[in-house]
Amino acid sequence: MWGKEFMAQNISEVLLTEERIQKRVKELADQISRDYQGKEVVLLCILKGACIFFADLARAMTIHMQMDFMGISSYGDAQKTSGIVRISKDMDTSITGRHVIIAEDIMDSGLTLTYLTQLLSSRNPASLRICCLLDKPERRECEITPDYCGFIIPNKFVVGYGLDYCGEYRNLPYVGVLKPEVYSGS
Ligand code: PRP
Repeated sequence: MWGKEFMAQNISEVLLTEERIQKRVKELADQISRDYQGKEVVLLCILKGACIFFADLARAMTIHMQMDFMGISSYGDAQKTSGIVRISKDMDTSITGRHVIIAEDIMDSGLTLTYLTQLLSSRNPASLRICCLLDKPERRECEITPDYCGFIIPNKFVVGYGLDYCGEYRNLPYVGVLKPEVYSGS
């Protein structure tokens, strides 16, 4: 057995089905499109976890936008953030005077987005907001909340829809809870 069947074997529970995610992403896109009517936005994808969410969100939005990408990593292959945020790729476009929306897959300790919002604010955008698919407020270590949030979820190890374990599971179309035996001992 290989591929998605193999991955599904390591999932104890489907937390968010593909249908539920798609419905919520459309709602977020509608809300953002209303809020930014008449404005041009830069939708910023935080690689790699946000890639799937970003692609669905962008296609459901109905306003003019430019897309840009930033590579950021704070976890590496570990389960807990190191608190050190590493930029592997910066944006290509200038955001000075522009409306920026950060698309992120998950807010956990909040360290990554705290660091990122401070960095991007120093570049003087017209506005800066966070759109996060998943929020785990129980794990927060900084005072930060997303402006747009897809789902508040419990403190469980989730993968799929962009979220990984050791670089895998990102291509599952749903968000599932990884069985502890898969990651225990790592
Ligand atoms: C994940 C996620 C966020 C960050 C959230 O990235 O995509 O960027 O962790 O955690 P925090 O709120 O505790 O800072 P990760 O470092 O796993 O990289 P990836 O997106 O490439 O998987």
